[in-house]
Amino acid sequence: MNANEPAVLSEAERKQVDDRPDTAFYDQPRLVTHADEGFLARLTDLYAAELDAGDRVLDAMGSWVSHLPDESYSRVVGHGMNEAELARNDRLDEWVVRDLNADQTLPFDDGAFDAVLCALSVQYLQYPGAVVAEFGRVLAPGGVLVVSVSNRMFPTKAVRAWREASPADRVALVESYVDAAGRFADTRTVRERPAHDPFDAVVATRAARER
Ligand SMILES: C[S@@+](CC[C@H](N)C(=O)[O-])C[C@H]1O[C@@H](n2cnc3c(N)ncnc32)[C@H](O)[C@@H]1O
Repeated sequence: MNANEPAVLSEAERKQVDDRPDTAFYDQPRLVTHADEGFLARLTDLYAAELDAGDRVLDAMGSWVSHLPDESYSRVVGHGMNEAELARNDRLDEWVVRDLNADQTLPFDDGAFDAVLCALSVQYLQYPGAVVAEFGRVLAPGGVLVVSVSNRMFPTKAVRAWREASPADRVALVESYVDAAGRFADTRTVRERPAHDPFDAVVATRAARER
């Protein structure tokens, strides 16, 4: 139970099939990609449209690839669960390891970033309202949060609400996380299925931190 969690998921809805601490699941690096090429190319385009050169970027819930376009950002900080994965990520200037199901805070100042990216990972959050609020805290006013999801997951680690939801309901869940955080305005959701991509749908919710 987390007293700071806005009422997004019930105790039953946040359950994982594998209820060991997440640190045990992520102790081995997984140097794989988590979506098809079409999805990842479209996500990179989306980042190119939403981010500006020189931005300070947090790649939250990251791994060894960041999906960023070939642009120059002033600071790219990674966050994830596995040190070896993050060390392999050549877009990161620095990184932190933190289990957000154990501690929903991030070790950054208020307004430290212009963009927070959370790719293909939000299904693992047991306290998504508190974490998305924390993303809002570390974003500068007017900064942008991009949360992307596909229809893939590690099913034993995704929360029950996600596992049992239809694809449309998953989009609604992400939107409810952003709403519950209470820090964002101008939320917009993109839904696409790129041609030649038999498997993944591109869904990204983009929200601006209130000024
Ligand atoms: C499917 S991978 C996606 C990695 C990366 N964002 C990408 O697009 O390739 C899921 C990621 O969620 C993050 N994650 C899962 N459980 C987490 C937790 N309890 N706390 C923090 N991050 C977590 C890990 O960084 C893990 O690499």
